[in-house]
Amino acid sequence: MCGIVGYIGNNKPIEPLIEGLKKLEYRGYDSSGIAIKEKNNIQIIKSTGRIVELEEKIKNEKLLNSNLGIAHTRWATHGEANEINAHPHKVGKVTIVHNGIIENARDLKNKLVNDNIVFRSETDTEVAAAVINSFYNGDPVHAITRAIKELKGSFAFGIIFEDQDKLYAVRKDSPLIVGVGKKENYIASDIAAIIKYTDKYMLLNDNEVVELTSDNINVYKDEELIEKKIETSQLTIEDANKGSYKHFMLKEIMEEPALLQRTLNKYLSNPSDLFDVSKYEKIHIVACGSALYAGMVGKSLLEEKANVKCYAECASEYRYKKVIYDRKTLVILVSQSGETADTIAAMRKAHEEGMDTLAIVNVTTSTIAREAKKAIFIEAGPEIAVATTKAYLLQVAMFSLIALTTAKVKGLEKKYDEIVEEGKNISTYLNKILDDKDIFKGVGEELKDSMDAFFIGRGVDYAICEEGSLKLKEVSYTHSDAYQAGELKHGTISLIEKDMPVFAVITDDNIKDKTESNVIEVESRAAKIYTITNDDSLKNHHFKYVIDKVSDYFQPILAVPPLQLIGYYTADVRGLDIDKPRNLAKSVTVE
Ligand code: F6R
Repeated sequence: MCGIVGYIGNNKPIEPLIEGLKKLEYRGYDSSGIAIKEKNNIQIIKSTGRIVELEEKIKNEKLLNSNLGIAHTRWATHGEANEINAHPHKVGKVTIVHNGIIENARDLKNKLVNDNIVFRSETDTEVAAAVINSFYNGDPVHAITRAIKELKGSFAFGIIFEDQDKLYAVRKDSPLIVGVGKKENYIASDIAAIIKYTDKYMLLNDNEVVELTSDNINVYKDEELIEKKIETSQLTIEDANKGSYKHFMLKEIMEEPALLQRTLNKYLSNPSDLFDVSKYEKIHIVACGSALYAGMVGKSLLEEKANVKCYAECASEYRYKKVIYDRKTLVILVSQSGETADTIAAMRKAHEEGMDTLAIVNVTTSTIAREAKKAIFIEAGPEIAVATTKAYLLQVAMFSLIALTTAKVKGLEKKYDEIVEEGKNISTYLNKILDDKDIFKGVGEELKDSMDAFFIGRGVDYAICEEGSLKLKEVSYTHSDAYQAGELKHGTISLIEKDMPVFAVITDDNIKDKTESNVIEVESRAAKIYTITNDDSLKNHHFKYVIDKVSDYFQPILAVPPLQLIGYYTADVRGLDIDKPRNLAKSVTVE
């Protein structure tokens, strides 16, 4: 959600700024812009739409001879996605780009308007620029430190002062790293944006102000210089490219078996205490979107297998509702990015109540990874497609391990060793599914003209349906809903029409007959039934794909990839921008 890149060095800034913005495209955006500086002149170029359109505009401009610049992709929050609202914004001597939301922007703006400041845009960013400018008396670090005390909300800013040959940045509750190069330095929303130029970076904590020149980086807290460690990223340039695949989404689905096996082998060969949650009586799993659906699988496994009372809740509700905790409650936060604003807020709420927290997270440098009391890293590598696939699957795998370990510790799992051996081979089964990708491509082609679909399942299969339905709707723009199979006839069945695709996930032996009856109910209303099951004996209604039958702990890992591929191919046959679906952002850093 919004992306920032900044450069200062011995070269011209346009190439690294544009390259960086392209690597941040996956975060989601609807306009972009750059500001470069030479002596006391600032040149700002902005565009709506894709970065290629910004590049085209830049080509047609006579550019300043600059070695310093900031760039931004904007995902509109305050004000529509037009050029005026696009970043950078300049007020007085201050030019900034911004990720996040300034919650008290309206109040601040009213005060500044009374001081005769004229605003051109509808953005909270321009207000932040004006606040920094109002404290500027020639000392940028002071102005920024003072200004951020006035700002409520979340921010990552890249800042240029008209009369300073330096680049500045600061963050609070929004990601931003400092890239350390040779005779050039960077700021960026994430390391992928600058990995082509450097793998060395510094992490900034909330409210730390950084000042960069070509060969020096100073970090200040409350205007005092502080020491910072330089870290080395494990990311490679190949990780940030899609190689021979048409889309990152397909590349990332195809990476699933290898990643899954590496992670499962690591923990199954050497069990970690992190997975034993037997001392807790109650677990709250809190997350958003697909991460929540992974949590719903976790809830089902933990309750069914490990006998722990579990709640899976969406973070945007959890953070504001009355939550009843007791000393024996564990709060599990699930997040790929580790920067989802609502999930961060839910974590902090649990901390304020003195609760233990466990994060299941991918990005190891993220806020959730750093603040949670304990963290399990899923090690999915960078996920570039906006729609999550491999990270979701690894989140589910972590819940398989938590449920299995906890069941064993509680003496509830007699077949532990057998299940561990199966886990070490699970990618063999997954590979078979991915080898069948043309079958799912065929389903995608059948769905080309269907604008509605339903997914039905019970228990853990319902949780899988939610994820399958989300994949289909977010990348192919098909309206789709997931239902607990027994619920459909309480109203929604009135929507079933001839040939409407209904996907049934049936992997749970205990209730498969019940779901099958619900399938027959909708088939009787002329729906087209697509079944994903581990039971070859089930009737083939219109389409049936049979996955291998494995233990309950690992079955969800096999049930989801067919649905991920169906979502992908449906979008592909429609020629859509699969890796960057409209209106979506990879990392939702605002609530
Ligand atoms: C859907 C998707 C989103 C995310 C959600 C949470 O494909 O990617 O629903 O799962 O925005 O994001 P994280 O996991 O980064 O907290």
